[in-house]
Amino acid sequence: MSKRRILVTSALPYANGELHLGYMLETIQTDIWVRFQKMMGNECHYVCADDAHGTPIMLKADEMGIEPETLIEQVRIRHQADLDDFHIDFSQYHSTHSEENREISELIYNRLNVSGYIKKRVISQAFDPEKEMFLPDRYIKGECPKCGADDQYGDNCEVCSATYSTTEIKNARSVISGATPIEKDSEHYFFDLPQFEQELKNWTKAGHLQDEVSNKLAEWFEQGLQQWDISRDKPYFGFKIPETEDKYFYVWLDAPIGYMASFKKLCDNSELNFDDFFGKDSDTELYHFIGKDIVYFHALFWPATLMGSDFRTPDAVFAHGFLSVNGQKMSKSRGTFINARTYLENLDPECLRYYYAYKLTAKIDDIDLNLQDFKKRVNSDLVGKVINIASRSASFVVKKYDNELSANCIEKSLYDEFVEAGSDIAKHYEARNFSHAMRLIMKLADKANQYIDEKKPWQLAKIEGNEKEVHEITSLAINLFKVLMTYLKPVLPEMTTRSEEFLNVDSLKWADIQHPLINHKINKFKPLMTRIEDDQIDQMVESSKV
Ligand code: 2FM
Ligand code: ZN
Repeated sequence: MSKRRILVTSALPYANGELHLGYMLETIQTDIWVRFQKMMGNECHYVCADDAHGTPIMLKADEMGIEPETLIEQVRIRHQADLDDFHIDFSQYHSTHSEENREISELIYNRLNVSGYIKKRVISQAFDPEKEMFLPDRYIKGECPKCGADDQYGDNCEVCSATYSTTEIKNARSVISGATPIEKDSEHYFFDLPQFEQELKNWTKAGHLQDEVSNKLAEWFEQGLQQWDISRDKPYFGFKIPETEDKYFYVWLDAPIGYMASFKKLCDNSELNFDDFFGKDSDTELYHFIGKDIVYFHALFWPATLMGSDFRTPDAVFAHGFLSVNGQKMSKSRGTFINARTYLENLDPECLRYYYAYKLTAKIDDIDLNLQDFKKRVNSDLVGKVINIASRSASFVVKKYDNELSANCIEKSLYDEFVEAGSDIAKHYEARNFSHAMRLIMKLADKANQYIDEKKPWQLAKIEGNEKEVHEITSLAINLFKVLMTYLKPVLPEMTTRSEEFLNVDSLKWADIQHPLINHKINKFKPLMTRIEDDQIDQMVESSKV
């Protein structure tokens, strides 16, 4: 099969807060898939960026007494450090507040406008007369019109679950200044989504989405598509709409365009050609990994935006579920709203990468990080099973056989069984059924350990004349370990590097598993990972409590 050319993205995190383990679920999922594609010999580029625009970022910078540009730069540095430390291997990490993004956003808007997809009309909205800005719903609070509970948000009541419009809320006040909002008119720009209804219906049924997602979309089509408000009045942190003085693109207009902008930046610094990946007739593949909460943006607005501006649409949007911790929504008071950095200060990133892989499927079901189960799973699978194969065999080879693996591979049928499992494991990786892949790998690890348990090389070694057999058994075990580490490489890049050093090979490659190492010198075994202890988890939870 010829080499595939693939471009992959993860959703862009907002530039006003720290990354948490929920976001890491997404980047780890994407990163594993990208690393797998590269191992298969495909060309695969992975881009992302900080989502730097919008009202919350503007207000946060205001509150801190700094410019929004300063805030987003500080946050970007922290985000990139976290992602790096979790071994997320981006080809490019950029920002939506960039020249590339301004250029492409303007281009797309101009094309949409020329083709008659942008409509203008005056709408009336809540306005803070003191702060002199329009107020998004979440910046208005007051009494619920249904049950009277105070301190409820502008559009829904957390006490009685009623939903309403901001004009219905009693004694409304601006969260920013405390002033009573007034109604004010202004002209807004709309993207005329209904013009794409038929094209979108076809697209959403053409295999680009998971079944659960297409079903959800069928419901949305039934409710009818609405024009999408893509403008915001000043003050706003974002890009000005061409030929206006005081209108800005709504953050969600230029956010997905940030995928293109990040890739453009990569192209500018390499031999890659932008049109090969985004041109209308491109024959490359494009995939977006996202959380299920932003499906509307990625499966309706985004493809329609691309259709209307003469770019290619994605091959697929892959949605995943939400992360819960210990069976509940992440909570600051319980210490289960865990930041990426807090995790890293206490635990090995690869433990989380493995646990997520063990849990992830191609479905949109939520995923639970149960911290006790996490500890048990990692200790039992990685330390107790996989690493155990190498650690119990290595000392024989090193001490008794001068670091050299045997000249032939006994039990070739067992070795072949390990090799043959590779095609199913690869299929599961490709289909994002990492959970199935991990279970197959662990079954093989069990087999390898059973083999060693049955052969008992430590007993054989006590009797003279068994040298050759002991050498062959322990060498086979090390070769089985090598196959397993090759399969785990997309999930555990650092542990793989340490294993490569131990095995004295350049780089574990999928294409090499056919051939066991014969008459090959290995290095002394060093611990590849340490067990997770309770106090690491306790400390992480304690530090996450506010
Ligand atoms: O929901 C969010 O966190 C957004 N910042 C995701 C943007 S993804 C893409 F469209 F840019
Ligand atoms: Zn209420």
